[in-house]
Formats: sequence, C-alpha cells, structure tokens
Amino acid sequence: MKPRGIFIAGNWKMNHGVQETVHFFEVLRLRWDSLLSSTTREAFQKKYLKACIIPPFVCLERAQQLAHPLQITIAAQNASGEKQGAFTGEVSGPMLRELGIDTVLIGHSERRQYFGETDELVQKRLEGLLNQGFHVILCIGETQEERQRGDTFGVLKKQLGILDALEILRVNSESTQRLTIAYEPVWAIGTGVAATPEQAEEVHRWIRGELAERVFILYGGSVTPKNLAAFLKQPNIDGALVGGASLDPEIFLACLEAVSW
Ligand code: PGA
Repeated sequence: MKPRGIFIAGNWKMNHGVQETVHFFEVLRLRWDSLLSSTTREAFQKKYLKACIIPPFVCLERAQQLAHPLQITIAAQNASGEKQGAFTGEVSGPMLRELGIDTVLIGHSERRQYFGETDELVQKRLEGLLNQGFHVILCIGETQEERQRGDTFGVLKKQLGILDALEILRVNSESTQRLTIAYEPVWAIGTGVAATPEQAEEVHRWIRGELAERVFILYGGSVTPKNLAAFLKQPNIDGALVGGASLDPEIFLACLEAVSW
C-alpha cells in the first residue's frame, strides 16, 4: 500500500468531442466489472485509488454527468485565475463550478510550448484557483536540451518557484491538500519514450524534498498500462498523468488495473 493512495488522471488534450465522450463513458461503464479485478474495484470504492478524466472544455458538462455515477473526477485542462472579465478565450473558476467541476490542470508543457504560457502566468492561474478552493494539478518538466545540459533541477526549481512565491506550503496548509504536482519531462510526452522509473523517482524524491510530504506527485510522459506498475512501485510516485493511453476506455481501465501489482 502507498501512504498517500494512488491517483490516475487521463488528459485527453484536444481529442474527443461530445459524441466520443458519451461513447467513452458508456464503454467504461459496461466494461468496469469485467476489466477491473475485485481488488482494484475495492481500492476504488475505498478511495485508495482515484481516477480523473480531463476532457476538452466543450465536453465537461456531459462528462461530468456521465462520470459522476462512476465516481470519476472530471477536471478542466486549464482555467483563468480571474473570476470574470475581458479575457477572450479564457474560462473562469466560477464557470467551472457551475458545472460541478472542482479540479483544474494548469501549466501543461503544451500550453507553455505552443501558447507561450510563462511561469508568471501559471502562477496567476494557480493563485487564483487555489484561492477559489479548486484542486489544482500543476504540471512541471524539463526539455531534452535542459536535461542534457544538466539543468533539470534548475528548471524545475524555477517552475516550482511559483509555490515559493505564493508561500502556499508554508502559510496555508489547507491549500497544500488541494495541490497535485505532475512531473512530465517534455521529452517523454507523446514520444513513446517514457522516463525510466528510476529517473522519475529521482526527480519525484527531489520535488517532495522541496514541498510538503503529503503533496501528491504524479508522473506523466508515455505512460501505458504496461509501464505504469513499475512507476507506481517507486516510493515517491503517487500516480500518473496519462495522455494517449487515456483516450480508449479499455486502455484507461487497463491503466487503473495496473495499480493492482
Ligand atoms: P502522453 O501525454 O501520455 O501521451 O505522453 C502525457 C501528457 O501530456 O499529459
């Protein structure tokens, strides 16, 4: 047993519209009992194992309705730290709340790489959302080049500097319970080349040293049902942020089943 439990989140990115979302949850519901062992189902019922799906914004409402009976959390892929105003293209916390969403992913490397999101912007999102009572999954990770330069911990420290600036971990311990870190080395995302469990554990141990003992730390980057168990065996890896392997309901169930090692 892992001290903090296990959290498996599926990030759909810009995949699956409403129809595919309905299909996904229909298959998940139908295959739940046959593809999950009684041990896994029990872990799920006891909330030792938690699952989350992170669909595109337009699918949130439908996904929330369909996931609720299965006790799967639905999270948004991003959100503003502001509550309202002239911010075209942004979605606010109160809007998500209205749909029953209380968890948001922020700082994904694709937001940073393709849409220019900086540490400062991610900090604003984090601060606003935590202050509004949201659970936040904050993504951090180094590029291949940064790793080769031996700069992995320097880059991560800067990305985690956000937390230092907010003094979240020191001042507001209640917020700490609503914070999850996803360590996603950029070179492992969508490449089929995952970090080794030892490489990931080295970084997770370092992150835990920087933060509070009870913060959840997920590994992300080419996670599959095949390699997931080896990651979960590491003491500081509390779960996974799964991209490609979360799109197919049966493969996502296989990821949940992988926790029964
Ligand atoms: P991947 O994506 O599992 O497809 O590598 C992970 C992520 O970006 O969250």
